[in-house]
Amino acid sequence: MTHTHVAGSIHADSTAPAPSWLSMPRDVNTLLPSLWSTGVDKDETGALTVAGRSVVDIAEQVGTPVYVVDEADLRERARSFAAAFGGWDVYYAAKSFLCTTVARWVTEEGLGVDVCTGGELAVVRRAGIDLRRVGLHGNNKSVEELRLALTGGVGRIIVDSFDEITRLNTLAEELQIRPRVMIRATTGVEAHTHEYIATAHEDQKFGFSIADGTALSALLRCHQEPWLELIGIHSHIGSQIFDAGGFEVAARRTLRLHADFSAQTGVELGELDLGGGFGIAYTSADTPSSPAVLAQALREIVANECSGLDISVPHLSIEPGRAISGPSTFALYRVGTVKPVALDGGASRLYVAVDGGMSDNIRTALYAAAYSATLASRRSPAAPVLARVVGKHCEGGDILVRDEFLPADIATGDLLAVPGAGAYSRSMASNYNYVPRPPVVAVRDGQITTLIRRETIEDLLALDAG
Ligand SMILES: Cc1ncc(COP(=O)(O)O)c(C=O)c1O
Repeated sequence: MTHTHVAGSIHADSTAPAPSWLSMPRDVNTLLPSLWSTGVDKDETGALTVAGRSVVDIAEQVGTPVYVVDEADLRERARSFAAAFGGWDVYYAAKSFLCTTVARWVTEEGLGVDVCTGGELAVVRRAGIDLRRVGLHGNNKSVEELRLALTGGVGRIIVDSFDEITRLNTLAEELQIRPRVMIRATTGVEAHTHEYIATAHEDQKFGFSIADGTALSALLRCHQEPWLELIGIHSHIGSQIFDAGGFEVAARRTLRLHADFSAQTGVELGELDLGGGFGIAYTSADTPSSPAVLAQALREIVANECSGLDISVPHLSIEPGRAISGPSTFALYRVGTVKPVALDGGASRLYVAVDGGMSDNIRTALYAAAYSATLASRRSPAAPVLARVVGKHCEGGDILVRDEFLPADIATGDLLAVPGAGAYSRSMASNYNYVPRPPVVAVRDGQITTLIRRETIEDLLALDAG
């Protein structure tokens, strides 16, 4: 289901209050390990802990709302992708979450970084990352962004339009720098969760269509441009993918394109990037695969397709974002108001309002994303009740967790934690209603470190020129 109407009010469901995948827990204090970073636990009081530090301390020290990163967990996820995909290049998709420290962590664990704006590029530059390990995406890169990439020595630029090919070639000649270039191919595969749609065409802004021949034309054009070094093809098919079927179709179509180019030019392209999109567990309904399982499936798919086309296997890369940053982080909120709301048919739903909302996690409002939550500051003896966690914004659709069982005695002052908040939460955060964005802190061996400080009202007022 897709919500396209972010700003409108959303009313409580009157019929089935709990979705079919959500079952009532026997003990509402129990954590489901698949949702949390490996360093998360509960202590003897029932408070959530991460890397040995209680969230009660974290809230006292840095306030709420706050995003809390388990450093060891994030590093381990990066490391396990690098190990499982040995021989491939793994680029961390910075759009999922980026700050200088995380850019350093992932590169220390053997990954490159994939950025898509001049802003993201500026962060990795400030982090001191070797820009040869960085790729630049984007469907509308400005001349300034391309200049920054060229002069900084970015390792590869993924071009997305004929306008960009012209722009980049002109700039490259002006600067006398010959960039390594891939073309973003639109494969006609759209993958989400266990389902994918394979069509001939895709009605979307990214890439060059394979089906209508534009992708081959783009390859030929890059090949002819004297100031571009064409290295290969790139595809990205979607997000929250649990099944390799979509990658199989995408690999087949991109490798056929690779073979067609080779047949026309006699040149075998050296590289193929299959993008990101590997799914994580936001709720009990999600069943992600390990990097090792994914790697084996992708290796087999590529080997089969290459042998069918009688071509050698190109150098491969992938770009996971969410699967590295997402599960390593939870969002911690303080409960403000609790309100039972009567539904039709005698049912009721407990609305639990916290001190953040759609400005620190837009995904529920934007994509109807499902999240989970747990009471984080104490153990509760109360029975589970169906609840909805909402924010403080002036908006009916300001929902953080649409459906969750929480203890019936949840009350003002309690802490509430939402797992899986590391990807596309802080990076998509806004200042809606002039709400400052929360800080990001990391915990390692009981030590709390600030990665991004809390924004203040003064920061926001400083932008107001009046
Ligand atoms: C080109 C590209 N690569 C990688 C990613 C990362 O996807 P995910 O965070 O789902 O792994 C995205 C996400 O939109 C993307 O557009």
